[in-house]
Amino acid sequence: MNRIYLAPMEGLADALMRDLLTRTGGYDGAVCQFVRVSATPLPPRTFRRACPELDGGGRTPGGTPVSVQLLGSCPERMGETAARLAGLSPRGIDLNFGCPARTVSRHGGGAILLDDPGLLRRIAEAVRRAVPEAIPVTAKMRLGNRDTERTLDCAAALQAGGVAALTVHARTRIEGYRPPAHWEWIARVREAVSVPVIANGEIWSVADYFACREASGCADVMLGRGAVADPFLARRIRRAASAGNFAAADDGSAGDWGELSVLLREFWQRLRLRVSARHAPGRLKLWLSFLRRVYPEADTLYHRIRAHEEIGVVSAALAAATAAE
Ligand SMILES: Cc1cc2nc3c(=O)[nH]c(=O)nc-3n(C[C@H](O)[C@H](O)[C@H](O)COP(=O)(O)O)c2cc1C
Repeated sequence: MNRIYLAPMEGLADALMRDLLTRTGGYDGAVCQFVRVSATPLPPRTFRRACPELDGGGRTPGGTPVSVQLLGSCPERMGETAARLAGLSPRGIDLNFGCPARTVSRHGGGAILLDDPGLLRRIAEAVRRAVPEAIPVTAKMRLGNRDTERTLDCAAALQAGGVAALTVHARTRIEGYRPPAHWEWIARVREAVSVPVIANGEIWSVADYFACREASGCADVMLGRGAVADPFLARRIRRAASAGNFAAADDGSAGDWGELSVLLREFWQRLRLRVSARHAPGRLKLWLSFLRRVYPEADTLYHRIRAHEEIGVVSAALAAATAAE
């Protein structure tokens, strides 16, 4: 079974976006954006805000299971927080060792922790111990903080700490989001551990998907920005894989604008109910800034509304661009 997961993306893939993207089919799971673990115990509403799916059995409306991601550096606090979270029955708990933010505040975390495999292990152990066996604990890591010197040690430490699967975003912290992603390094991680390794980074097309699987040797992948740029990417991959025709099936966006128009209209409608009039246009432009990589129609719409902040103008342009034929 080759699994496809939707990546956590703070500020980009909230519950609304996860709903729209997973509804189109092809995803086996998703991870919500990180919840920052703090000195004071987090109330249930903090978890629910990051992952409203918790109130729907831990699944998106389309049925895709969603894990809740925790970010922090103190094993005890991570354990306590995970125990509280477990009370809300998440489908899984994921640990963030990939956030590139530099803040090493007292409660910081993310990719900077990759300098300390021992700490990674203690965090994973504390969380694993704190939650019932039935809740899988997974981790998502970059290759390292500044270099790949400790990549394999980190992966081994997380496995020893009890994680059930490991997603590897194939870049170091200092590489940020600069291409390329070093898929061949994921292969080295996969060979070093026995838990399933999920490959992540720079999969934007069906061709990238197969190239990543080939280079990493991984059966499973996680799609991030590529999923936002092409909401039908996972479905396209599934179709190509079952047709066994990897090159020809990478047909880009042809014919999908009509279907995407429906998603865009729903996105705008629901966004306007949840977000203030001041912020809604920015969110739409953000999505369009990804969609325009794949859809020429999105590029045209993006340019049309780029300089506008008024809801009426943006609504009218969106309606015109997505009108049913
Ligand atoms: C806007 C944005 C927010 C992100 N937020 C998170 C996050 O909350 N947790 C996390 O583990 N990774 C986060 N990531 C990293 C992605 O999950 C993913 O690892 C990265 O984008 C590489 O995959 P891609 O090349 O397919 O986008 C974020 C990435 C972006 C672009």
